[in-house]
Amino acid sequence: MLHIAPTKNIPDNTGQPTKSQQVIRVSTDGDFIPLKWNWAETWLTVPVIFKDIYKRIYDFEVKEDDVFIVTFPKCGTTWMQEAAWLLLNNLDYEEASRSHVLKRSVYMDISILYEMGGNDSIAMAAELKSPRCIKSHLPPHLLPRQIWQKKVKLIYCARNPKDVLVSFSHFLRGKGAYRGNAKEFVDDFLNANITYTPYWPHVFTMWQMRAEPEVFFITFEEMKSNLRGVLERLAVFLEKPALTEAQMEKLLKHLSFENMKANQQANPTELIKNSGKRIVASDFEFMRRGIVGSYKDELSEEDQRRINEWSEQFLGQFNVSMTDIFGDI
Ligand code: A3P
Repeated sequence: MLHIAPTKNIPDNTGQPTKSQQVIRVSTDGDFIPLKWNWAETWLTVPVIFKDIYKRIYDFEVKEDDVFIVTFPKCGTTWMQEAAWLLLNNLDYEEASRSHVLKRSVYMDISILYEMGGNDSIAMAAELKSPRCIKSHLPPHLLPRQIWQKKVKLIYCARNPKDVLVSFSHFLRGKGAYRGNAKEFVDDFLNANITYTPYWPHVFTMWQMRAEPEVFFITFEEMKSNLRGVLERLAVFLEKPALTEAQMEKLLKHLSFENMKANQQANPTELIKNSGKRIVASDFEFMRRGIVGSYKDELSEEDQRRINEWSEQFLGQFNVSMTDIFGDI
């Protein structure tokens, strides 16, 4: 059952053009999730349209061989989608060059952000060819419940909150989906006023489930420092044969930031610019910097300190530090 938090006044900076202008906070009891957690009071901020769509997502018919790629936004989702899709499809570069990764690996809950008309993303995810590789930004308790009931494979990619905040701010402001300035974005992110926030319960609950056999938990930071090692482990997780050296070399090159940025079937920039949904800035770039530590020259010391304190406040309850999750960033 969907719980809806009593409304607080949430600033309308998210800039959704229609009904989804207003946001609400939702949760479920999180039945079937292996982690014991106070799910019912773990509120997620979503556009109000979520109420109408939620049941179709929650009751989504999951197949045993589905692979879900779940992330908080801007954690390297697209990078992981391209890697996982290729491994899952026996390195079919031909098919990968024919269709965009966001068509091969559908973002099932994008319908909560836009009214999609005939192009309903939940139906598109359902219609993918098996093994389906489905993307979602929803946290554990709002994902299709059959993921947990049927114990299908779930890849979760996390990234440190300072780089996520910077990347998310550029992304939403650049594509006209957030009306405030960069400073206001920091406040709205920390106060969980942005769709898919709050950040920490999303990332931390999945980190706590990292040892579950059906969960592959990875960080953007590790993909940056040791993509080869990540791909080796991912192939094992996906029950695929180990890559030969030549296959590995080719895949590493294909997944490099420069190659993905130049690859029209992997870089979402043009799709977003041509979607006609909003006025996208002419210099909008989805593949922006692709590094660890962009917060260092893009966030003020004051904002870095605020995010550190906010993180310590959450993680301190569990005696965990950011370094435990992301290493040195
Ligand atoms: P930046 O904005 O910091 O550059 P998502 O796919 O979850 O929206 O994440 C987008 C972020 O991942 C962007 O971060 C983007 O540049 C980065 N990214 C995408 N592909 C990448 C790659 N092949 N290597 C490194 N970073 C990549």
